[in-house]
Amino acid sequence: MGYASLKMIHVTSVAISYLLFSLRGIWMMQESTVLQQRWVKITPHVVDTVLLTSAIALAIMIHQDPINNSWLSAKITGLLLYIGLGMTALKYGKTRKTRISAWIAAQVVFLYIVLVALTKSPTLFS
Ligand code: HEM
Repeated sequence: MGYASLKMIHVTSVAISYLLFSLRGIWMMQESTVLQQRWVKITPHVVDTVLLTSAIALAIMIHQDPINNSWLSAKITGLLLYIGLGMTALKYGKTRKTRISAWIAAQVVFLYIVLVALTKSPTLFS
């Protein structure tokens, strides 16, 4: 598969992942039972697997790696933070306040990852 198509798959899965995460946060705040539906539990895993697989393939194709290229280390660190905050927001957060705070923090981290992707710099100044 060509680089451009793979990048399109990566960016599309990024957009769907973000949309699903945001929706699940809204359903969490509304205490909606939609959150318990099977597709809502499974689809994010499928989308996130595509996101990560395409990310790794892109990095390999452009011969960049997280040890030598700090923007990639920043993306991976950001992704781990985003996952941790997402788990707190949607599953492990004990109080409503914790869950909503974690959801907002995850939104900020997500924005940071997108800006790192666009600037190719962990400080966002290229
Ligand atoms: C939630 C996590 C992620 C988000 C939001 C995200 C976002 C993006 C975006 C918006 C682009 C397009 C940039 C452009 O148009 O120039 C991109 C490209 C890319 N991403 Fe990600 N990404 C994520 C995770 C990752 C991870 C974990 C890696 C590394 C293993 C990665 C590696 C790449 C690579 C190599 C490109 C192509 C860069 C280029 O061709 O200019 N991404 N990402």
